[in-house]
Amino acid sequence: CSIIGYLGDISATKILVSGLKRMEYRGYDSVGVATFADSQIRVKKGVGKVEQVNTKSNLHTLPGNIGIGHTRWATHGGVNEANAHPHLSSPGEIAIVHNGIIDNYKELKEILQTRKYFFKSETDSEIIANLLQYHFDATQDVKRSMIKTVNELKGDYSFVAVFSDGTLAAARFHEPLIVGVGKNGYFISSDVLGFIEHTDEAIYPDNGEIVIINFDGIELFDFTGSPVMHQVTKISKEFADAYKGDYAHFTLKEIWEQPLSILKAGENTRQAIESFADTVRVAKQLYITGSGTSYNAALVAKHLFLKYGKKKIEAIISSEARFYPDYFDNQSILIALSQSGESADVIEAVKIAKNNGADIFSIVNTMTSSLTQVSSISVGLNCGPEIGVAATKSFTSQLSVIYKIADLVCENQVGFDIQKTSSTMSKVLESSSKIQKISQVLKHASDIYIIGRGIHYPIALEAALKLKELTYIHAEGLPGGELKHGPLALMDSNSFVIVINPNDSTYTDTLTSAREIKARGAKVIGISDIVSDVYDHWIEIPTINESAYPFVEIVPIQLLAYYAALENQTDPDYPRNLAKSVTVK
Ligand code: G6P
Repeated sequence: CSIIGYLGDISATKILVSGLKRMEYRGYDSVGVATFADSQIRVKKGVGKVEQVNTKSNLHTLPGNIGIGHTRWATHGGVNEANAHPHLSSPGEIAIVHNGIIDNYKELKEILQTRKYFFKSETDSEIIANLLQYHFDATQDVKRSMIKTVNELKGDYSFVAVFSDGTLAAARFHEPLIVGVGKNGYFISSDVLGFIEHTDEAIYPDNGEIVIINFDGIELFDFTGSPVMHQVTKISKEFADAYKGDYAHFTLKEIWEQPLSILKAGENTRQAIESFADTVRVAKQLYITGSGTSYNAALVAKHLFLKYGKKKIEAIISSEARFYPDYFDNQSILIALSQSGESADVIEAVKIAKNNGADIFSIVNTMTSSLTQVSSISVGLNCGPEIGVAATKSFTSQLSVIYKIADLVCENQVGFDIQKTSSTMSKVLESSSKIQKISQVLKHASDIYIIGRGIHYPIALEAALKLKELTYIHAEGLPGGELKHGPLALMDSNSFVIVINPNDSTYTDTLTSAREIKARGAKVIGISDIVSDVYDHWIEIPTINESAYPFVEIVPIQLLAYYAALENQTDPDYPRNLAKSVTVK
């Protein structure tokens, strides 16, 4: 979910609606805003994306220069108007927007209901509005009601509230919250993208802090009520890049940025790359973790370090780490990969490792994120904001950082020629119209399998993830050798199989797998530098040194998934039911 608040001298809804649009990647089931004017709080909300709800409900007609807004990614309760934020307290004097999960909302709800506070939604979030109202009724004081409320809430959250005296109040507990300080007012948001077009100056409240803003200024407190001070920091201007430009979608723009973004990867943290490599070289136990695409990048790292440096790394899916706490001790290093640096599963894995004495290194795009704060070394992806929900450029930037570190650790054995890799990726992009044509054959596919061996197996997994996210077609990544152990039973003339088959040590075995598939009538799309009669469709990739193929072979698959999404009329930037940054477990 994304949350935003504004208090200043321009129309609040103008700020809120444009900020919410920029943050839509964090969730987009439903949208709402609340403003304060003439001693009254007014709410408008609805189901759909910001533009749809704005057109239907005229969000921008709400009066006032103080307000809050939200885009939702449903956790508790279905996607409907009642569950959309903002939520009003039952007397309507306080409205809130919330990101995260309140674990004890059921208990609190029962107590508040006996005290005659009413609820209209099934969400955990609505509890915050009524709890604040209950304490405000008792104290008539914003600060005291905030302190009492946060001390009763259990869970991870950030929320912004508007009170009916026009005060904005926010609290942060293990979810992101940033305050923008501009000449036209104050902004509170879960992401700098919520206000970057208005100011590049920000305050980063810590966990367990409360922010109170009114026309007298801003105050910050900890959860006991003691004042805290923070410097105003400058946000990197690159965040202003978050525009589509001439591209039809952010996803397409981000795919095309990759030849450049792999070059920039890690460039802002060169020193960190060296310390990272020095420590990893002598490390006793290495673990690597991530979720989704970041986990697939972790699998590439595992392969690379073993093959070129004889270094063993155990890869752990972040959401599984809690079931294996005994992996970690004070001899361990956990490398955490995350684009956002905010995925709750990744943060939890890191906490578990840290509690067991492990040291934490991270590779992350958002250098101001929660993950960098708990890491002893962080290397930046430096690829600029990634808005498309399906990760593209952050994946190849993760690979780029991993390859740079691996080359240092493995004494140049990886042979990573980044310039050559970048220009080869550009060549693949130039063949995008051919790939667009091939994507048409996937239009009516119900199942797509992707096979690859060795280092290409994680790429097959990433390919399947892209196809699932963008096209909603069932897709599965497999190691070629596993076909005969089950999946061959599924192959018939309705199956499509993408074969990742560059001219390297995996080539002959993978071609054999492709023949086995073909013999069962399935359609084969080959991604290779060598043509073969096995392929019904051939996507040619240029020949490059063996280790660099993952960079080159993922690009046509990203394009294939993107164009197949257009064929199927799904929105490639905002796949249904997903969110870019999942800050709940
Ligand atoms: C979400 C996104 C995925 C992403 C994953 C990990 O599920 O939809 O695209 O790969 O989170 O995100 P992170 O920011 O930790 O890399």
